[in-house]
Amino acid sequence: MTDAPSTTTRSRALVDAATGRLGAAGVASPRADAHLLLAHVLGVPRGEVAALLVLDREIPGAAAAAFESLVTRRERREPLQHLTGSAPFRHVELAVGPGVFVPRPETEAVAQVAIDEARRVVAERGGAVVVDLCTGSGAIALSIATEVPGARVHAVELDAAAHEWAARNLAGSGIGLVRGDARTALRDLDDVVDVVVSNPPYVPSDAVPRDPEVADHDPAVALYGLGPDGLEVPRGITAAAVRLLRDGGLYVMEHAEVQDAAARAMVDACGAFDQATTRSDLTGRPRMVVARRRRARVED
Ligand SMILES: C[S@@+](CC[C@H](N)C(=O)[O-])C[C@H]1O[C@@H](n2cnc3c(N)ncnc32)[C@H](O)[C@@H]1O
Repeated sequence: MTDAPSTTTRSRALVDAATGRLGAAGVASPRADAHLLLAHVLGVPRGEVAALLVLDREIPGAAAAAFESLVTRRERREPLQHLTGSAPFRHVELAVGPGVFVPRPETEAVAQVAIDEARRVVAERGGAVVVDLCTGSGAIALSIATEVPGARVHAVELDAAAHEWAARNLAGSGIGLVRGDARTALRDLDDVVDVVVSNPPYVPSDAVPRDPEVADHDPAVALYGLGPDGLEVPRGITAAAVRLLRDGGLYVMEHAEVQDAAARAMVDACGAFDQATTRSDLTGRPRMVVARRRRARVED
């Protein structure tokens, strides 16, 4: 038998039933997701959903049916952002879907460090060159280009599908997007970059994420950093940062909460940076390594 809520078009009953179903399916924020899906179906901002719920407005039959169908997909743990087709990140919205990593709130703090440094460099030198390695949807690169006038931003992505999403998101932004391996890309920028920022794959191969949204829908190439510690790709990204950064340039790289000491050791082992430090995300968890390219080069 079909659940009763699928036949009603009263907004409160519709949303309450959806919230119950999503909660039972293990979705972490069932009511928020129900609101966002209804807003998406109606083509209105989320705030308007709150208002129509207060008044318990009728939802037209076609919209109610479309909502039900999205709730069913969300119940199966398809990422919310794949259903709405977009992901908010700082002040921008990225188009996302199958084949690209959904940008996360913790990465906004990583972008903040790069933005602060790029702004400082622009104020000091009149411009800044910034590189986003492993750009995925282009979230970090687009935020920097949007928030830092005077920054010249380049982005690199290896995977064909992710690169297509980035191309879509970065079209018209002025950002230079390259498809290639971030470990070897952008050789023409060696020694001239002011900021290298990256959220690379860093999950160890034996640490399969628990949430189906991540395990089943984020591409493996976006998650797994390879090597016993998940840091094989990040090591290559760090070596690329050494190559790209000018003396005094800043490197910022996201990592997992448990990798802070290993990430600092990885960066310090290059011998090319001042001592690496760890910074936290907005919830206070250690999530990024930050290091400044040493002025007197050790290996040159
Ligand atoms: C964790 S996702 C991050 C995406 C985006 N920067 C963000 O924060 O939302 C890592 C991205 O790196 C890409 N990638 C993995 N290995 C790479 C490599 N060697 N060179 C360039 N990109 C790579 C993946 O395809 C994926 O898009």
